[in-house]
Amino acid sequence: MAKTLVTYFSRTGNTKAVAEAIYEALPGDKVLRPMAEAGDPAPYQIVFAGFPVHAHSVPYPVEVFLKSIPEGKKVALFSTHGSVTGSRLSREALEYASILVAKARLIGTFSCRGKVSLKALEILTQSPEHEAWTDMAASAATHPDAGDLEDARAFARWIATLGAQGHYRGL
Ligand SMILES: Cc1cc2nc3c(=O)[nH]c(=O)nc-3n(C[C@H](O)[C@H](O)[C@H](O)COP(=O)(O)O)c2cc1C
Repeated sequence: MAKTLVTYFSRTGNTKAVAEAIYEALPGDKVLRPMAEAGDPAPYQIVFAGFPVHAHSVPYPVEVFLKSIPEGKKVALFSTHGSVTGSRLSREALEYASILVAKARLIGTFSCRGKVSLKALEILTQSPEHEAWTDMAASAATHPDAGDLEDARAFARWIATLGAQGHYRGL
């Protein structure tokens, strides 16, 4: 069994691209799997789990997976979102995800912007509750870009170092 699992949920490929960058940068034994095929996270030393922000939150299948991560497991979370990086809108889903893995050991989080599909925009702009982030969506069109993917690789290397040393930190 590989030491590190990198798993992701992705509808349009943004989170998958970030997951691939993370996987690529990790040293040692590792596997990359869509979340639906991730299986039991218990045997891995470190679990990277990624998702797109949906309606300010964590998509349901991701919620189920995060809750299945055993107590004490080292976890790193990553997300992609249409809203501007660092904004409250971009942070709240990761904050919720960190609560879902509260029993595990969260060793880090990463997020970057991801382009919003035209189809999603058409549907979402009709709902007033999505106005705040859909206003920002146009400027996400070039993401994740080369800089985002480089940041994701640096994040992966940092987590691998922390994981190997047994250190961890919260959000
Ligand atoms: C149904 C749906 C809801 C979304 N809700 C949000 C949201 O609340 N906040 C946000 O910043 N982005 C939101 N987005 C944009 C996605 O998070 C963003 O495009 C993401 O990078 C998509 O990742 P994927 O290609 O891996 O599926 C939403 C997208 C969809 C399709």
